[in-house]
Amino acid sequence: MANIPLDALSLEQKASLLTGGGFWSTTAIPEAGIDAIVLSDGPHGVRRQMHGTDHLGLHHSEPATCFPPAVAVGSSWSEDVAAKIGTALAREARALGVDVLLGPGVNIKRSPLAGRNFEYFSEDPLLSGVLATAYVRALQAGGVGASVKHFAANDQETDRMVVSADIDERTLREIHLSAFERVVTDAGPATVMCSYNKINGVPASEHHRLLTDVLRTEWGYTGAVISDWGAVRSRPAALNAGLDLSMPGPGHYATQALVDAVRAGHVTEATVERAVARVLALVDAAGHDAAAPDLDAHHELARELAAECAVLLKNTRGTLPLERPSSLLVVGEFATTPRYQGGGSSHVNATRVDVPLEFIQAHAAARGAAVTYARGFATDDQGEEAALREAAVRAAAGAGAVVVFAGNPEAEESEGFDRQRLELPASQVRLIREVAAVAARTVVVLANGGVVSLEDWHDDVDAILEGFLLGQGSGAAIADLLFGQANPSGRLAETIPLRLKDTPTYLSFPGEQGHVRYSEGVMVGYRHYETVDAPVRYPFGHGLSYTAYDIAGLRVQVDGPAEASLTVTVRNTGSRAGKYVVQVYVATQAGPVRRPERTLAAFTKIHLEPGQEKEVRLGLDRRAFAYWDVPLSRWVVADGTYVVQVGENASAVLLERSVHLDGDGIAPPLSLQSNVGDWLAHPVAGPRLRARMAPLMAQGGPELDDDSDEMRMVASMPMNQILNLTGGALDGDWLVSLTNTCPSADTTEEEGNVHS
Ligand code: BGC
Repeated sequence: MANIPLDALSLEQKASLLTGGGFWSTTAIPEAGIDAIVLSDGPHGVRRQMHGTDHLGLHHSEPATCFPPAVAVGSSWSEDVAAKIGTALAREARALGVDVLLGPGVNIKRSPLAGRNFEYFSEDPLLSGVLATAYVRALQAGGVGASVKHFAANDQETDRMVVSADIDERTLREIHLSAFERVVTDAGPATVMCSYNKINGVPASEHHRLLTDVLRTEWGYTGAVISDWGAVRSRPAALNAGLDLSMPGPGHYATQALVDAVRAGHVTEATVERAVARVLALVDAAGHDAAAPDLDAHHELARELAAECAVLLKNTRGTLPLERPSSLLVVGEFATTPRYQGGGSSHVNATRVDVPLEFIQAHAAARGAAVTYARGFATDDQGEEAALREAAVRAAAGAGAVVVFAGNPEAEESEGFDRQRLELPASQVRLIREVAAVAARTVVVLANGGVVSLEDWHDDVDAILEGFLLGQGSGAAIADLLFGQANPSGRLAETIPLRLKDTPTYLSFPGEQGHVRYSEGVMVGYRHYETVDAPVRYPFGHGLSYTAYDIAGLRVQVDGPAEASLTVTVRNTGSRAGKYVVQVYVATQAGPVRRPERTLAAFTKIHLEPGQEKEVRLGLDRRAFAYWDVPLSRWVVADGTYVVQVGENASAVLLERSVHLDGDGIAPPLSLQSNVGDWLAHPVAGPRLRARMAPLMAQGGPELDDDSDEMRMVASMPMNQILNLTGGALDGDWLVSLTNTCPSADTTEEEGNVHS
């Protein structure tokens, strides 16, 4: 099909193209030569359903490789990992006849309890955005369209279809839209999927500011906006807001509603045609020249990538790697029935699944060590709890080392509901503690989609390997890591708090009476903990290795009024090859808004052989320093001091350098309602006003610049009140003229606030 003239189609035909033709397909119009294309989940494997269909992961889907889910990819901090997954997914999608893969998900992990955290990358928008960009570019280079979802603020499952996420504008821009913005502008995804929820009271599917003003006008998006499955309430309203394709179909009722709305003058035919053109462009881009993918090679890839994602949280007494274990006891149901993905629409019918115990046995056999196994706990039948635990503890007393596979039961982590607690099941906590009390060495391997509390047992064990959910190769990957065949290089993409009560969303998640108030503002995750100096169990960015690194020689260069770059040297000082994540943060209090203690500004992951040294160069563009200015409705880099920090993680700064940036030279707008303090601080109006006011200040009264209580009182008064108090000595017209002559926002950026 190519270049169908739109006027060759009737209104009914055009309207029908704007709603799915089936559960997973667009509408075909054979008489006009228009084919249907297929959209399927996503994001970490292809969930192609040929027969029974659903968007909850209930019915059968064709076998496909289950790659590490986003929670794992986020922990890899590796664009390379994300890109390799994108490339492989494109091959499998094309072979299964899928034209658009429904992913990646780039919502922000606001609370550790959010049920779909396993499908999202991070609590940080830069990390999420960069990894998603690499994934989308690779997927689309392979001929398959991406669908960046869920736009926007779908950060919880509780009431996900109706809740209103009430978010102030700066928080929305800096935290919740930022990853979407990066993917849209840097990777041009074929589609963007709107979420179910409302944003500040307006359903995402009907949010004109979001779907049109921000996405298209500001970010320049040219692809198609599609709905989440069933997210459209009113087809005409959604179309007017900028939603091109409503899914799923068939949608006879929606099509008729659209036709009626056009005839009634509520929707223009031009609006219909614009959306049709975008849907047809999507259909045009599709192609099926696929060769069958090498599923064995993809399985190996899934295993190799999984090993880059796991995070070694703790490793004392040289416990890991298990180089020469005399005897090994493996405990836990997840060693034989691994947890490697979450529930819901992303659930993949894996081509095969590596069983950790089998790979551990193979590694141990190669080293002449015997392996025994005890189930330890049951995820289903709690009646057996005591007997299983006691048997495991008895076996642990005689073992050289014990590896306990613990984690969240599968039924507790899924799309559709949020988690109820941060802790592991009590039976597992008790098991770990009792095993650790008698074992010579205890290692815990965790499987969970969102972070879990490590309290009550962390100090009892020698090592903790956080696997999150690693996809179908997780069993082999974990064994490789335990025995040192692979060197851990994952870093936390999400803080592990001490207590749920410490989390910034504790009081607001998941909301009440239809609203969730994002009261933490921009202080999400590590931004909060670092700013209020609250202790955590493990900070964002934390992760250990079997080798050691030395980081030195940080140099920062200012490249412009709002840009800088840096170089730093990393050396592998240990005896194993490894990968190191260089994490760069910016700390500043520049500008009129409360800034987090530090913010991730750049990162890269590098491979180093033992003894090898590399110089890393990273650019810091204006967004690394900018904040969203609400009155000006734009990104602003303020004049001020910026500390560029290289961190071992978000709370351990290794090196830092301060630079001064002139910024954008934008002064805040002034009016007679602005307070005196703002007037005095203003770079243009301030000095002029000072000169005018000095003679007016009462003899013996406060000096304009002093820190007295009186002056603080004056500084907080609006200028129009001072005007009255000076009894005409200050000239109102002169002040107004001063507001007009001030440098102000660069009006070329037409941006606004995302309120209804
Ligand atoms: C999910 C989407 C998914 C869609 C289709 C929805 O319930 O929120 O992420 O792509 O179903 O399965």
